[in-house]
Amino acid sequence: MSKKVFVTGGAGFVGSHSCKAFSKAGWDIVVYDNLSRGWSEFAKWGDLIEGDLLDRQALSKAIRDTKPDLVAHFAAFAYVAESMNHPGMYYQNNVQGTVNLLEAMRENEVKNIIFSSSCATYGISEQLITEETPQKPINPYGASKMMAERVIQDFEQAYGIRHFILRYFNAGGSDPDHEIGERHDPEPHVIPLAIKGATDESFKFQINGRDFDTRDGTCVRDYVHVCDLARAHALAGDYLIDGKPSQIVNLGTGQGTSILELANAVSEVIGRPLDVSYVDRRPGDPPSLVASCAKAGDVLGWKPEMSDIDTIVRTAWEWMEIEKGRTL
Ligand SMILES: NC(=O)c1ccc[n+]([C@@H]2O[C@H](COP(=O)([O-])OP(=O)(O)OC[C@H]3O[C@@H](n4cnc5c(N)ncnc54)[C@H](O)[C@@H]3O)[C@@H](O)[C@H]2O)c1
Repeated sequence: MSKKVFVTGGAGFVGSHSCKAFSKAGWDIVVYDNLSRGWSEFAKWGDLIEGDLLDRQALSKAIRDTKPDLVAHFAAFAYVAESMNHPGMYYQNNVQGTVNLLEAMRENEVKNIIFSSSCATYGISEQLITEETPQKPINPYGASKMMAERVIQDFEQAYGIRHFILRYFNAGGSDPDHEIGERHDPEPHVIPLAIKGATDESFKFQINGRDFDTRDGTCVRDYVHVCDLARAHALAGDYLIDGKPSQIVNLGTGQGTSILELANAVSEVIGRPLDVSYVDRRPGDPPSLVASCAKAGDVLGWKPEMSDIDTIVRTAWEWMEIEKGRTL
C-alpha cells in the first residue's frame, strides 16, 4: 500500500533526516519549506514545494494537490535566545503556522499529524522528565510549542485529526552516510560550536553560565542523535496510519550531559584540546533537562541506538569536515 507524508520544514536539520527515515520505511515524501532556515539540497527524498506556513492559500493548495495520508510538522523557529528577544515572531510562526496547517488539513480531510514538540515546554524540572511532568515553559519558544500542542489537541476533539506529539530533547549528530547534516547560518547549537572551538584556532567556545545548580555548574542536557529522532517519526507515522490513538511521547535518552562534559567529549573524540571561556547565563535557559523515554519504548518500540555522546560528536564532526571540503 502506498503512503504519502507531507513534511513541513523537511529542508531543515531534523526534518531532512526524518525524510530519509520515512523514505527507508517506504513513504512517498513531499517537502513544504520556505527555506528561511533550510536548504533545498537537503530535500533529497521527494519533491520540494517552496512555500510558507503563513501563506494559507499556498499551503492549502499544496495539501490539496499532493493528497497526503500524514503530515509531519517540523517547520518552526527553534532558538530559545532568539525567542526571548523576538517573541512575536515565535508565536506567529510556531502557533499561527500550526493553526494554518491544521485548517488546511481539515479542509482537505487529512487525518494524521506528527508534531515536533520540545523539552522546552517543560521549563525547570529537577527530576527525570516524564510526559506527565507539568509543562511550565520559561521562554517564548517553549510556550509557542506548548500552545501548538494545545491547538493540535483541540483539532482532534473538533475534527478527529489524530496526532503523535514528539517532545524531543536536544538533537545532535548528523547522517553517518554524510548525505545531509546539521547546517545553520549562523549556528547557535552547542555541539557544532564546541567542535568549531576544537578545530578552528580563531574561534573560542563559550559556555553560558557556570553557576547553575548542577554537578559542575554548567547546564545539563539530554542529547539524542538526529537519526534516532528520525527513526521515531517513521514509527509514529505507521502507528497513526494503523488507526491507533493519539499519543504524546518524549524522545531522549535518560542520560544528562553537562556542557563541560560535552566539551571534554569533543576534545577526546577529535583528539585536540578545547579551551573554553565562560560568559553569563542566557536568559530562558533551564539548568537541567533530562527525559524519561520509557513511554517511547512502550508505545513505539523505540529506543536510542546512536545517542551515546561520542557517536553524536563524531558524526557531527565528520559532517562539518565534509562541509569544509576536507576528506575524512
Ligand atoms: N534541533 C533540536 O534540538 C530540537 C529540539 C526540540 C524540538 N525541535 C523542533 O524540531 C523542529 C525542527 O527543528 P530543526 O532543528 O530541524 O530546525 P531547522 O531550523 O533546521 O528546520 C526548520 C525548517 O523549517 C523551515 N521553516 C521555518 N518556518 C517556516 C515557515 N513559516 N514556512 C515554511 N517553512 C518554514 C525552515 O526553513 C527550516 O528548513 C522544530 O519544530 C523545532 O522546534 C528541535
